[in-house]
Amino acid sequence: MIETGDTGRTWLLTGASSSYALQLTERDELVHLHWGPQISLAAAEALAAAPQPPPRGFESALDGREEYPVEGGPRFVRPALSVRTEEVRGTEWVLAGAAVDGDELRIGFTDPVHRLALDLHYRMRDDSDVIERWATVAHTGPDGPPLELLRADAAAWTLPARDGWRMSRLHGRWAAETQIARTELTYGESVISSRRGHTGHQHLPWVALDADGTATEEHGEVYGCALGWSGSWRISVQQLPDGIVQITGGAGHDDAGLLRLAPGESYTTPVFAGLWSGAGFGGASRAWHAWQLAHVVPDAERLRPVLYNSWEATGFDISQDQQRALAERAAAMGVELFVVDDAWFGRRTDDRAGLGDWTPNPDRFPAGLKPLADEVHGLGMQFGIWVEPEMVNPDSDLYRAHPDWVQHFPGRTRTEFRHQLVLNLARNDVREYLWEQLDALLTSAPIDYVKWDFNRSFTDAGWPGEEYAQKLWVEHVDGLYALIDRLRAAHPSVAFESCSGGGGRVDLGILSRTDQVWTSDNTDPLDRLVIQEGFSQIHPARVMAAWVTDSPNVQLNDRVSSLRFRFVSAMAGVLGVGGDLTEWSAEELAEARSWVDLYKEIRPHVQRGALYRLRAPRGGLSAVQYVHGEETVVLVWLEAQRYGERPPALRLRGLDPTATYTCLDTGAVHHGSVLLHQGLHTGLRGDLDARVLRLRRA
Ligand code: DGJ
Repeated sequence: MIETGDTGRTWLLTGASSSYALQLTERDELVHLHWGPQISLAAAEALAAAPQPPPRGFESALDGREEYPVEGGPRFVRPALSVRTEEVRGTEWVLAGAAVDGDELRIGFTDPVHRLALDLHYRMRDDSDVIERWATVAHTGPDGPPLELLRADAAAWTLPARDGWRMSRLHGRWAAETQIARTELTYGESVISSRRGHTGHQHLPWVALDADGTATEEHGEVYGCALGWSGSWRISVQQLPDGIVQITGGAGHDDAGLLRLAPGESYTTPVFAGLWSGAGFGGASRAWHAWQLAHVVPDAERLRPVLYNSWEATGFDISQDQQRALAERAAAMGVELFVVDDAWFGRRTDDRAGLGDWTPNPDRFPAGLKPLADEVHGLGMQFGIWVEPEMVNPDSDLYRAHPDWVQHFPGRTRTEFRHQLVLNLARNDVREYLWEQLDALLTSAPIDYVKWDFNRSFTDAGWPGEEYAQKLWVEHVDGLYALIDRLRAAHPSVAFESCSGGGGRVDLGILSRTDQVWTSDNTDPLDRLVIQEGFSQIHPARVMAAWVTDSPNVQLNDRVSSLRFRFVSAMAGVLGVGGDLTEWSAEELAEARSWVDLYKEIRPHVQRGALYRLRAPRGGLSAVQYVHGEETVVLVWLEAQRYGERPPALRLRGLDPTATYTCLDTGAVHHGSVLLHQGLHTGLRGDLDARVLRLRRA
């Protein structure tokens, strides 16, 4: 809901449990008033009327107060917007107007010198505490020099004055994504970013700040900000001299130039979403999850199927017969979606060749993919396929025909990673080629699922012949989005997975057009608990793919773990199986079948329920709980039992203290009040033990 004050210059946005207020001053400065628990319009207007103390010393009256600080005038903070022509740098605004349209507020300004229009957008839905903010900048023309956008962030978020702040981030690297790091914020600027052309394994584009570093999993004030962009990006958290904290975020990793706008052209930033929660890190996560399931992820009401993928088991050595044999075993296990990974196309028998040639390898699939897809369907499963459309191997028909289609600088080395180069998806001819190839692929066989991979970062982001090649960083991502959107529109029954060597492309932008993401190439079930804990800070289990693979885990660490431990670890997300099923014994296959059956029973709770992280994976007992309707599901893991002591009781959350709950496995009846206060002993023992608990309200 959006309320407008009497003067028409104060706005109050109210969501499920929080409010956000802003004001246009008499001098048309757009200043921040409130972000936090719900307040009334009268309270917002009182804040607007409160006199501002004059700035002290060398400080500016605007810094730390503005909704969208720009470069120019009396400002010293990091600007959200930086624009220049050859002669004039910075902006000076004249108010153009404000409008409320349903749950969206738009406030517009113009800069007559630059002929620039700026629209700031805010949207807060009644069922959520997430505020979506973005900006549009347009060269209104009809003539005048081009405008260079050095930087155009989506928003600047301002936090209330507190004694101090702690900042949480999710850092990582390949096979070790989304590790939580929490540090005290200090004066100056903390920046996280990707300079890689994709979201990156190194940080998810998300920060959380808790006042005085006092928030816990279920208590305390937490502010979170997350960016919906799948290219290079930057989030900057500044603590100003007076202690006020401002967070800006947008596309592009520095201020070296983003786009150039000719008369009539415009740029719309990605969404930089913000959330206040008074219920700790867990409350913030649940609010992020609910918002993504309701408003971001496509078809989120559909449960994701259990999939099988042989990548870890077979690598590049695949054949139709081998895939059929695996499919038969997978189907017997209860798998619902069978995915053929890399190496089905072109002359792709290792990572040196074939990327770019998206037709089936004639030696491996002589009659194309349809026979295998039909067989998989005949086994009662959906059929999926792996692609990496943005890439090309120099050893490919595509590269031989179009060596100029890759990102490169004339006369410079074309840097290869994994023997591959990056196609320039900013080019229309490249987009059109990929559309034709992928549309033909999806038409050639009954394909239900596309795993879209991206296995190297940008290095030589040049575009010979293009006057302003720098725009490639943004327009490549626009090209990617346009291609997926077009494929989805033409093939509406096909689901998409975002993968980038594991979790290198996980963000709200890609999640608004894909059905799930590959969380990490690390499928070790113990490492995964930590990766999944970090992932769940912002994204829901409904999009977090997790596979059960072989033990020992030869890919990573030779760790030996039971099927039980591997399954319960992977059941915390969208369950998949990725082991070499031809090597699994009859007992293992039968046990796996019972785990898959159990997962299907608890799947609605895992994929749709409210997540409570009961204990963090830090060496001993850890657990997550999902509350959904009358049932609650607990997944619990014991890394190592110490000194023969009984692991601690698990205190559950989100239950009714006045109700009783029946354990569906043992029939035991528990009082909600006891489960919440004393907790439940899980019976786990030894090392790498795990269990699934299901309780139903009596
Ligand atoms: C990286 C992905 O993360 C893996 O799952 C697999 O698809 C390989 N690429 C294939 O090359």
